[in-house]
Amino acid sequence: MQKISIRQVNQDKISVGSYIVEGWVRTHRQSKNVSFIDLSDGTAVKGLQLVINPTLEGYQELAPRITTGAAIRVEGQLAASPAKGQKFEFQVTKLELVGEADAESYPLQKKGHTLEFLREILHLRPRSNTFGAVFRVRSEASMAINKFFYDRGFYYVHTPIITSSDCEGAGAMFRVTTLDLANVPKTAGKVDFSQDFFKAEASLTVSGQLEGEIFATALNKIYTFGPTFRAENSNTTRHLSEFWMIEPEMAFYNLQDNMQLAQDFIKYLIKWVLDTCQEEMQFFLEREWVAKDHVQNLEHVVNSQFTAMDYTEAIKVLEKSGKKFEFPVHWGMDLQSEHERYLTDEYVKGPMFVVNYPKDIKAFYMKVNDDGKTVRAMDTLVPRLGEIIGGSQREERHDVLLERIREMKLPEENYWWYLQLRKFGTVPHAGFGLGFERFLMYVTGMQNIRDVIPFPRYPGYSKF
Ligand code: 4AD
Ligand code: MG
Repeated sequence: MQKISIRQVNQDKISVGSYIVEGWVRTHRQSKNVSFIDLSDGTAVKGLQLVINPTLEGYQELAPRITTGAAIRVEGQLAASPAKGQKFEFQVTKLELVGEADAESYPLQKKGHTLEFLREILHLRPRSNTFGAVFRVRSEASMAINKFFYDRGFYYVHTPIITSSDCEGAGAMFRVTTLDLANVPKTAGKVDFSQDFFKAEASLTVSGQLEGEIFATALNKIYTFGPTFRAENSNTTRHLSEFWMIEPEMAFYNLQDNMQLAQDFIKYLIKWVLDTCQEEMQFFLEREWVAKDHVQNLEHVVNSQFTAMDYTEAIKVLEKSGKKFEFPVHWGMDLQSEHERYLTDEYVKGPMFVVNYPKDIKAFYMKVNDDGKTVRAMDTLVPRLGEIIGGSQREERHDVLLERIREMKLPEENYWWYLQLRKFGTVPHAGFGLGFERFLMYVTGMQNIRDVIPFPRYPGYSKF
């Protein structure tokens, strides 16, 4: 007998017949003439309705232990259902209890758990409807990322997680050390890292970009997709200390090419999720925290052109908005979340690029424009969320780059290899980073970034 998944059933990929199904009980309703089990196998939002004749062999003895959360295995007939709201039901001919779930202590009883409560039980959270849906979407989107780049001839590069260079130059790095913290070796008052594991300072990476550039100037078009770490004390619904980033890097690309790729990429991912996760998207649409036109908005994004706006223009728009912002607007300031939200939610009313930022608020590696004041940066902003992508054309001129490193007082000796890339066959190149969890918030409508990653890490929290 063939084993089937409930997703296949819901997607009409299975015809009526005899099968095996395995999963966890959501509810078990007993009556005199017939019993029902709502079964979930983790593959779909909607469960499979199991129909049991109470005279089924062994059922009466097992019944008290078939409780919410218990694992069971059934054999029987998938058949057309007479009930409303479901196409199929499963008439059980054999029932096995695989693993019990104590009804007194199992925390996930049928309904009504808040997202906050579920965040406390990360080991059971994926079994809930909401998180099952979130993590299936996350998996589908991961697949789509690899497919998008594979189909376009990009190579997947695995950049290191432990590194000794600070890509963003912001110093928000977690240290990696095996030194005895109670007895740190010091020379002339300073920590002696020559006695540490790597005989030098080491950290968790904030971005794979710099190593990505090495590979783009060798394999031409590459991408990285992996975890990155930031020790910023940002306790917000949009920040994690460990998050996943997709970073493509392309040789012979300028800012325009980069913007086109970023736009194609986001649209492709949205479309993929809309096509492959219809049940999940319908489920999200029914959550009270999701806008009624959520899916419509996403469909619109897939079919529209992103607006591009110069930073200088964006400042003018903000100044003319008549809005009272907490952070006053002036040329040279970094855009805060409130400014991004006004631009994308209210002014453009859709996704947009802000380009050519002042050089003083951006990283050292961005290409300096001819005006000497701005750099070829691009941020992608989306409604409700703000920044989802940060990227740029890179500075490919050796001397200009060296000057920038010195201007920003970065440790020059750490970047010798990065500078050498500008000496040996240097080319215009560009890339960007998409925050994977920001994207997942955008597409699922989840409001807190901690609810789209299996094990969130944030200031004060690293459990499980
Ligand atoms: O703008 P960021 O800092 O850019 C970079 O790291 C570049 N090296 C990327 C590149 O050009 N290859 O980060 C990129 C994106 C942001 O737009 C945001 O979506 C996400 O990463 N991000 C975070 N997501 C969750 N938690 C945080 N603390 C994040 N910081 C950045
Ligand atoms: Mg950024």
